[in-house]
Amino acid sequence: MDKSFPLSGFGSAALHAGHKQDPLYAHVTPIYASSTFVYDEAEQGMRRFSGEEEGYIYSRWGNPNFSEAERKIVALEAFGLKDEKGNELQLKALLHSSGMAALSSLMISNLKKGDKVLSHYSLYSGLEELITKILPQYGVEAIITDLRDLNKAKEAIKANPGIKLMHLETPANPTLKCVDILELTTLAKEKNILVSIDNTFATPYLQQPFRFGVDYVFHSTTKFLNGHGTAIGGVLVGRDLAKMNGDVTKTQRILGSNSNPFDAFLLNLGLKTLELRMERHCSNAMEVAKFLAGHAAVAKVNYNGLETHPDYAVAKKQMKHAGAMMSFELKNGKQAGVDFMNKLKMCVRTVSLGTAETILCHPASMTHYAIPDEEKEKYGITEGLIRLSVGLENIQDILNDFDQALR
Ligand SMILES: Cc1ncc(COP(=O)(O)O)c(C=O)c1O
Repeated sequence: MDKSFPLSGFGSAALHAGHKQDPLYAHVTPIYASSTFVYDEAEQGMRRFSGEEEGYIYSRWGNPNFSEAERKIVALEAFGLKDEKGNELQLKALLHSSGMAALSSLMISNLKKGDKVLSHYSLYSGLEELITKILPQYGVEAIITDLRDLNKAKEAIKANPGIKLMHLETPANPTLKCVDILELTTLAKEKNILVSIDNTFATPYLQQPFRFGVDYVFHSTTKFLNGHGTAIGGVLVGRDLAKMNGDVTKTQRILGSNSNPFDAFLLNLGLKTLELRMERHCSNAMEVAKFLAGHAAVAKVNYNGLETHPDYAVAKKQMKHAGAMMSFELKNGKQAGVDFMNKLKMCVRTVSLGTAETILCHPASMTHYAIPDEEKEKYGITEGLIRLSVGLENIQDILNDFDQALR
């Protein structure tokens, strides 16, 4: 695409941004399944190592399929945003082998012995384990409080002068609780605390956290960005280019948490239709949420698009639509939930989220199994809770399947 042509729509950017003309003129960037890249002469290799000449060296360090996905994700997270000087916001993304790998790079490259990380209840369980069980072994402490209450955030910061990073997940997995990104980022900046945010549930189409001044945006690309459930991946996007090109890149390379060309190829394909998919995901989700909220067998629905959700106002303030994720409880508790899931004829029983198909899981025994029972309540993970990722089917089929399974 001609770089001088300004793209006015997010959907066009999702299709065209990040793509570079293939040297053999393939329309779609082919899969560069090559561990290493050659030099015309030894001096060229030396120049690439020293950074004097741009070019690939070794696929743990970078690969054309990774770069295309990284450029596209940067274009989407920065779409329409300006920096303090009014110029287009510059960001750098690093694609990883999984979401957990990208979160590990974030933590390891920003925290050292004696530092503290501040976060909140209702977090993806893998991240919760990383910060409360693994990082403490290296002298990094996790402070977990209810960051939906600004006073609690202030108290935690006052009581813990060593807080270096505030990590947010909004909407959070699986309760859909939201925190106020602007309010918390403003507070963190006053205290020189870095802010990272897990934007997996929202995607850059629904929420652009860099608009509110955060330092890092993270995605499990396994989910909506890939969109088809075909590959595990994670991405860390940062606004401090020197840090991203320095410590963060170094950490990723040393840990060896690079993606692979095939998964990155699949991610690039998925990203192209992000806008279209999210519009349909969200409109279907709203219909499903209304259906569940009005059903006699349903005790509770957690969906940010319903005015009854405690974080409806916060979600509305920072998201374009309420998203495709929700969770709900049936009146007769866990057994009713199990019976409902077993009766489904089209919707799929599986973990993960953000696939084209509607999928459901039971967080207490599946995705959040590792969280101790006594902690589960604080995280809002009740025994009867079912998590739902609404897909792209024709809405009537989702409703018909739910209707027959609830009978
Ligand atoms: C919100 C959220 N963050 C992070 C992760 C971890 O990502 P991955 O499974 O790609 O490592 C997940 C996975 O379910 C998630 O749902």
